[in-house]
Amino acid sequence: MTIVDFGQVDADAVAIPVAHPFENLDDRLAPLAESGELRGKRGEAVRLYEPRLVAAGVGARDEADAEAFRAVGSAAAQALSRVGGTIAWQLDPSLRVALPEQAAALVEGTILGGYSPGRWKSKDDIRPIDRIVIAADETPELRAAVERAAVLADSANRARDLANTPPNELTPATLADRAEELAAEHEHLTFEALGPDEMHGLGMGSLLAVGQGSRNESRLIVLRYEPPNAANKDFLLGLVGKSITFDTGGISIKPASGMQDMKGDMAGGAGTLHGIGALAALGTPVRAIAILAAAENMPGGGAFRPGDILRAANGKTIEVINTDAEGRLVLADALWYARREGATHVLDLATLTGAMELALGDFYAGVFANDDEWREKIVAAGRASGDHVWPFPLHPRYRRYIDSTYADMKNGSTLRQGSPVLAAEFLKEFSGDGPWAHIDMAGPGFLERSRGDYLHQPGGTGYGVRLIAELGRLLS
Ligand code: BES
Ligand code: MN
Ligand code: ZN
Repeated sequence: MTIVDFGQVDADAVAIPVAHPFENLDDRLAPLAESGELRGKRGEAVRLYEPRLVAAGVGARDEADAEAFRAVGSAAAQALSRVGGTIAWQLDPSLRVALPEQAAALVEGTILGGYSPGRWKSKDDIRPIDRIVIAADETPELRAAVERAAVLADSANRARDLANTPPNELTPATLADRAEELAAEHEHLTFEALGPDEMHGLGMGSLLAVGQGSRNESRLIVLRYEPPNAANKDFLLGLVGKSITFDTGGISIKPASGMQDMKGDMAGGAGTLHGIGALAALGTPVRAIAILAAAENMPGGGAFRPGDILRAANGKTIEVINTDAEGRLVLADALWYARREGATHVLDLATLTGAMELALGDFYAGVFANDDEWREKIVAAGRASGDHVWPFPLHPRYRRYIDSTYADMKNGSTLRQGSPVLAAEFLKEFSGDGPWAHIDMAGPGFLERSRGDYLHQPGGTGYGVRLIAELGRLLS
């Protein structure tokens, strides 16, 4: 956990936000500005070696916003990646971004930008920044803003760690262990995990089929957050995360190229887990349940096959067309379970379709919902948090593409069109009564390469953590 302090303290490095055109520039920076080395360009951190000083560009003075502070927080952390330790941030009261918002965005950017995905290197040469000092007088507003930012960014980094953990280390059972450890950290967060026998007893034939080809047993991981000060006892936020610890595609096997990134196919579950963890850490007065549908999709003698007909817990039957369309199969039973446990408002997060990544790239996720108000809340939470979502349609006219000759539906279409929408139509069959939304985060969930912004490192992004925390704030 990153420590955040206030005041004038000894730090390993000091970082100063700089907007252009320059005004009241620090004496130490003036010569750099004259030489043209320092431009104050958005997201550009210029490092001076004596003393350790970072000139942190926030871009044009009249365009400065929270995103600019996140970007430069991250850039400064990267510039100091071989220094680590304590970083002190100055704030700039001459800019139009309020000081608590500046401080929060700098803390968030610094923690996210200092993340190292190289935990498995024998010698990782990145030194962590473990303390951030805001060089300003402490006020209750500043304190609250930076503490919240630190929780969000630390939680997102923990979700990134889960997504980056290799599939030989992170199986459904070890993911459950991580969830249990998280629950133990918070007073009002409890943990439970169902194994194959219990899921069989509940009739979860859809989820169980996906993991049946793997030696690593499936798990339905359940966390319940019951804050004693819940504002509305009748409201239960149901969070459901696709948690495929590795997706080979199964018998409908994927091509070899890039398959290693399918360790990130549990990124929705990671965001869900650390999203509910953030709600608990922040003491958000909203009841929530998180359900991680965890399985490993492997080919093998015991694997499910195209042609199999599965029966889901809600009684509906599914003809398997493609074993690589496994995410919707595990989510089907998890969505049903969320309603069974009393979720009034459901949100699922899933790295569900390659086409969603083709459509939106690595920044926006797509959101589908059966309720306009619920979708708008989620879009607003995305915009405010930095985990952006853009609305996509559902319509009964799409349903015919998943009609099956033999069963109630099939898990894929033979047409090469609209796969994110058809996947959402499939999920809708299991979403029960009440508002439900589905986020397809195949693009922003796991990065092949750096996004070139404050989420600088390839791999897991922690997508969903900040969105869930912000949604909790909007709901409370
Ligand atoms: N996990 C993949 C989707 C994915 C692809 C996520 C690339 C991130 C990056 C999912 O299980 C999958 O294989 N989807 C198929 C569905 C198809 C067979 C209907 C897809 O999108 O190709
Ligand atoms: Mn797949
Ligand atoms: Zn998948």
